[in-house]
Amino acid sequence: MKKVLVTGGLGYIGSHTVVALQNAGYEVVIIDNLSNTSIDVLEGITEITKTPPVFERLDLRIKSDVAAFFQKHNTLDGVIHFAASKAVGESVEKPLLYYENNINSLVYLLQECKAHNISNFIFSSSCTVYGEPDSLPINEEAPIKDATSPYGNTKQISEEIIRDVCHVSALKAIALRYFNPVGAHKTALIGELPVGVPQNLVPFITQTAAGIRKELSVFGADYNTPDGSCIRDYIHVVDLAEAHVKAVEKLIRAENTAKFSVFNVGTGQGNSVLEVVHAFEEVTGEKLNHTIVDRRPGDVVAVYADTKKANEELGWKAARDLKDALASAWAWEKKVRGL
Ligand code: UD1
Repeated sequence: MKKVLVTGGLGYIGSHTVVALQNAGYEVVIIDNLSNTSIDVLEGITEITKTPPVFERLDLRIKSDVAAFFQKHNTLDGVIHFAASKAVGESVEKPLLYYENNINSLVYLLQECKAHNISNFIFSSSCTVYGEPDSLPINEEAPIKDATSPYGNTKQISEEIIRDVCHVSALKAIALRYFNPVGAHKTALIGELPVGVPQNLVPFITQTAAGIRKELSVFGADYNTPDGSCIRDYIHVVDLAEAHVKAVEKLIRAENTAKFSVFNVGTGQGNSVLEVVHAFEEVTGEKLNHTIVDRRPGDVVAVYADTKKANEELGWKAARDLKDALASAWAWEKKVRGL
């Protein structure tokens, strides 16, 4: 049985990836510092897969703890690195927190991978590296634009660090550039658990439908798009999780030609904010209070993925659509709220 370390494995995308890995026959070790999630997620994972993953509560910013972890777990076949801070607005307020957490942790992990001859590394990147695209759909050859937030900058810098390390060591790495992950596991045993007021669209929608928020603010309906609202590529988190399994498998089987490669992970389909609102209403039968307000500073108008590279080289394609994702997000919200 191949053994994979998942950092941030109790987080939103991490937990779904742990389930996908266990379902594909991998043994999983999770590191999480529980800074943005709950230990209950471990139970949710175990209930789904009937296999408790190994869990170590650990903060990757503490270099000596990272070293001790790798002393104990020295037979890993691969690492999938999710653990990072991810709130764009917070990163503007607290840049040093973001650079410390997202960059130091990566460096310490890579140092230990080198020391223990662990050469297969998957990194959690983001389509935010493309900024406002020059053309759509966007492929992996598109230029990297100046980051508009410290969060986005940490994703760019991390990709560069990994690429540089690959050049001079045995490390082989894949960076997956996610578009907009949404939805939850079909069992409603794991899903997204935003702390405080959600900044992302779908959790705000489900909390509004659940009566926790009064109404959704649609940030701008005067953009140059068919209905005036921004367009994104919303990918079901379970599809996204499965992309990680394909990626780590490719590295473990030594099927990759490049030492470092990047892949877009999206559906290839763009949907506007208002389309998401209407799809949610249609699929759940819930009326969603929403109002159009000013644009949110920093939002790009439209971004969706060219997924050809992931389709062809990873043998992966999104299998679930927006409605599946919204239905699962709503089932999860109802479960969390006891509705
Ligand atoms: C951005 C980044 C993404 C990053 C994520 C982390 C881009 C293209 N994407 O996603 O890489 O991982 O932040 O948070 O930079 N919206 C509303 N009302 C709301 C919330 C959102 O209208 O209450 C709209 C936004 O204006 C946007 C869309 O919904 O058009 C999606 O927003 P959000 O879920 O925050 O994700 P991004 O900003 O696309």
